[in-house]
Amino acid sequence: MPENVNRQWILKTRPDGMPKESDLDLIESPIPEPKHGEILVKNLWMSIDPYMRGRLRDGPSYAPPVAIGGVLQGESVGRVMESRLDGFKAGDIVRGHIGWQEYGILGITGAHVVDTSLGPISTSIGVLGMPGLTAYFGLLEVNRPQAGDTIVVSAASGAVGAIVGQLAKIMGCRTVGIAGSDEKVSYIVDELGFDAGINYKTEDVSVAIAESCPNGVDGYFDNVGGEITEAVMPHFNLYARMAICGRISEYNDDLPSMGPRVLRYVHAAQATVEGFLVFRWADRYEEGRSRLAQWVRDGQIKYKEDVVEGFENSAKAFIGQLGGANFGKLLIKVSDE
Ligand SMILES: NC(=O)c1ccc[n+]([C@@H]2O[C@H](COP(=O)([O-])OP(=O)(O)OC[C@H]3O[C@@H](n4cnc5c(N)ncnc54)[C@H](OP(=O)(O)O)[C@@H]3O)[C@@H](O)[C@H]2O)c1
Repeated sequence: MPENVNRQWILKTRPDGMPKESDLDLIESPIPEPKHGEILVKNLWMSIDPYMRGRLRDGPSYAPPVAIGGVLQGESVGRVMESRLDGFKAGDIVRGHIGWQEYGILGITGAHVVDTSLGPISTSIGVLGMPGLTAYFGLLEVNRPQAGDTIVVSAASGAVGAIVGQLAKIMGCRTVGIAGSDEKVSYIVDELGFDAGINYKTEDVSVAIAESCPNGVDGYFDNVGGEITEAVMPHFNLYARMAICGRISEYNDDLPSMGPRVLRYVHAAQATVEGFLVFRWADRYEEGRSRLAQWVRDGQIKYKEDVVEGFENSAKAFIGQLGGANFGKLLIKVSDE
């Protein structure tokens, strides 16, 4: 190791609304030393995810918040520099919640050896990692698509949504994606094979859904919540299934905003609305990963990575994601492999 410096992104102040770069701080600390049963990992690729916005808020949630002064959390893939843990050796490529720092410590429950034969190591935190698995289990287990169904997905060009749409096509469904620019809409239709795309910034989403889903909506994979979701729900068919994966349009709000009362559409369609967290299927991750890897190898699933070079650009990239600046799975290239 050239010098004993570990750069870390910490939480300085809890954001009010959209986070500002000044809410976070880039500090330097000594590189930690692994104790017995631990490994020291050098971060190579770091995932930036919308859920981090929730971790910056104090209050009850499915995971504890980041403390003021605490290192931001997140999954990365990196190289083992030093091992005091049986089964791991220096040089191994591992995945785990290293956090927003250049070097981190992992223990037996947090370190996962990456199968480098499956694809580039960055895919272990993208299409073959948490976002891909979220798409796989959320679509197949919650939306439960049948051939001939119409499936709508929001944030459709993103890490999760792009995989959801392609999986729905593999399942024989009509697939409609909603995204935030004409370029993203062209990508999902022309490159990924969605049947139709809607630019929610320039189109009336409800009108566009009626046009692009002439037989109504059987499954809605919701990544965004808010007005987009309210525009989709009136088009539900009998027994429609809505999977609440995320609500990125609401992540900067402290309290839920008051919207139209949409439950009448759930009632009339006898629809099922189910929230999920991907951890529910943790015991089946290897099944999902191997099936996704096969579809990627066969060319049936394509993926796009939005790579930001430089650890120092992490905060800017995260804030950009909350405003739709990323196009594909957002990754920080922390260090050369
Ligand atoms: N349930 C789970 O276990 C689980 C796991 C992973 C992710 N998630 C959730 O899944 C969703 C997608 O995550 P991802 O990893 O695929 O991220 P991503 O799509 O790669 O990035 C987020 C995208 O959301 C869109 N967006 C941002 N603000 C928006 C707004 N106000 N209204 C509509 N769209 C907006 C942007 O694209 P546009 O340009 O299209 O607006 C942005 O690029 C997030 O809500 C995330 O929290 C849930």
